[in-house]
Amino acid sequence: MKIAIYPGTFDPVTNGHLDILDRAVKLFDKVIISVARNSTKNPIFTEDERIALLKAAAKKYKNVRVESFTGLLVEYARSKKATAIVRGLRVISDFEYEFQMALANRRLHEDVETVFLMPNEKYTYLSSSIVREVARLNGNVRDFVPPIVRRALKKKLRAGGSSTNA
Ligand code: PNS
Repeated sequence: MKIAIYPGTFDPVTNGHLDILDRAVKLFDKVIISVARNSTKNPIFTEDERIALLKAAAKKYKNVRVESFTGLLVEYARSKKATAIVRGLRVISDFEYEFQMALANRRLHEDVETVFLMPNEKYTYLSSSIVREVARLNGNVRDFVPPIVRRALKKKLRAGGSSTNA
């Protein structure tokens, strides 16, 4: 059984994340979407909200689980018997950080391999921070996120739940 971890902050999950997930589920027997609990990124959605949105967005996949993790990603991956970490690579500017993280993770645990997947080119510009910015400025995020996330963003921002540095 080939198990992969798909980690991230997912604040919120975007269509770009789902495109990567769609590719990952075809390569692995099981994919665990793993929401980083101690994100230094000051997320606008709570951990539980991010998990709930991911569960709803990924409900069509039988071989996908959603959970959160703390601590070192590679330790968590090993505890799940995962042999791969899936990361999306959109543009060259992603590469430096991703390469650094992949090599550090490999140094920590040789047996957990990082696998980079490229999303459909129509998502190369898309990120959670772009989505938050557009939503905060009352732009239409219809093409960027699933409907459930669009509704959650509206609710969150109406409730004044955004922060300027998120
Ligand atoms: O979606 P993001 O914010 O780019 O995801 C980054 C994430 C959560 C995958 C990364 O920060 C991470 O792995 N954090 C866990 C702590 C860890 O293992 N750090 C060492 C990586 S070299």
